[in-house]
Amino acid sequence: MSTKKKLETFHISTYGCQMNLADSSTIASSLTTRGYRRVADENEADIIVLNTCSVREKAEDRVFGRLGEIFKHKKRKPHLKIAVVGCMAQRLADGLKEKAPHVDYILGTDRQFELPDVLEGREGTHEVMTAFGHENIDAIQPVKENEHSGFVTISRGCDNFCTYCIVPYVRGREQSHSADHVVEAVNKMVNEGAAEVTLLGQNVNSYRHEGTDFPGLLQRVAGETGVRRIRYMTSHPKDLSRRLVDVMAEEPKLTPHVHLPLQSGSDRVLRQMGRVYSYDHYRKIIDYIRDRLPYVSITTDLIVGFPSETLDEYEMTLKAVREIRFDSAFMFRYSVRPGTTAAKYEDDVPEAEKIERLNKLIKIQQDIAFERNQREVGRVALSLVEGLSRRSKEYARARTDGNKTVLFKTHRPPVGSIIPVKISSADAFTLHGEPVEEN
Ligand code: SAH
Ligand code: SF4
Ligand code: F3S
Repeated sequence: MSTKKKLETFHISTYGCQMNLADSSTIASSLTTRGYRRVADENEADIIVLNTCSVREKAEDRVFGRLGEIFKHKKRKPHLKIAVVGCMAQRLADGLKEKAPHVDYILGTDRQFELPDVLEGREGTHEVMTAFGHENIDAIQPVKENEHSGFVTISRGCDNFCTYCIVPYVRGREQSHSADHVVEAVNKMVNEGAAEVTLLGQNVNSYRHEGTDFPGLLQRVAGETGVRRIRYMTSHPKDLSRRLVDVMAEEPKLTPHVHLPLQSGSDRVLRQMGRVYSYDHYRKIIDYIRDRLPYVSITTDLIVGFPSETLDEYEMTLKAVREIRFDSAFMFRYSVRPGTTAAKYEDDVPEAEKIERLNKLIKIQQDIAFERNQREVGRVALSLVEGLSRRSKEYARARTDGNKTVLFKTHRPPVGSIIPVKISSADAFTLHGEPVEEN
């Protein structure tokens, strides 16, 4: 008889983007189906899974820090198994063992769903697997994220190769799921209680499966499922079509929110980044969106300190932010990603200068977010109730149609309901309001 302790429980932590969250739900569900029990406390786990991100150096450093902590558990608990999956596993493969020799399994972005087989040592599986290629991507089953909402990945990978970005290397070439798969997955989540789904892709606008393009897919999901709210991300400005905006304007299930990464306000920097649109083109899309969708929220991603970015070019980003007035923005300082085209350029903006540029940008954007949120005061926003506020148990937390957090006073929030909330005040990050009667 083997004296090996049986692996029974697992803990999974997710780093990075929403696609990783979606993948983690699928991995967790596949483990549960095979008899493993998910635990909320890492100390109780026999298997610790880290689903990782490589988009910036800091994201990878955090995982290495965490692995250092986990190794301490392993000393106390030798049967503990550690699996690193996702983008960092894909990028570093065997190399990860040099910095973290105690990791047991390394499964890349196309292999991570085989974790239950790997744990059981099924024939043909290995401890390190990073080969690209799914036999059939539609076999990956999306699973609801929580009681009231879920993510459905519509396309995997990316073909854009923006010069700074690691994603095309770690996620591979773009592949779209079939429209039938997406519709089925949404219907399944709705049957299990989801009011909202978010459709995910690195560049949803290039979705294409047989005859269906992205606006066509949205029409199918809206028409053929009982979902009440549909979100999506991310859009690439080079191919966000007017037809998409028109479909959003016509279909009430589609929430008025567009996440459209600008990255830089300078055309020269945009060219160096390989983004293939100009600032002027970007502005025209925004004008059209705002014209067709009056209460739309527009959010973005911005990078400062890209190689060779001059102070003047950086100021063009500030100017763009002041002109466009985003509802919110994710703002980053450029981080060199080995193997990308931009890694060959000299990373010549000093770190201290990058930090200064970023802090100034954040401050300007914060004031704009505050001002944009004041526009909401007085209006009634349909909001999905998500739970209690993280800070105070006297408040419920809900998400408006425009994807902003709104808090209202109650001890018993109707989680999963979409209710009208009248906005009474706002700061740069949060709205406050009161539920009103529907009429
Ligand atoms: N597919 C999405 C974005 C994926 S990565 C898109 O194209 O919009 C999310 C964001 O991280 C990017 O929009 C970019 O702003 C930022 N990012 C990507 N690589 C980066 C790098 N090397 N340094 C700093 N920020 C980066
Ligand atoms: Fe990266 Fe560009 Fe692809 Fe987005 S579109 S994932 S930034 S390469
Ligand atoms: Fe990070 Fe991979 Fe997403 S690199 S941003 S987790 S696709």
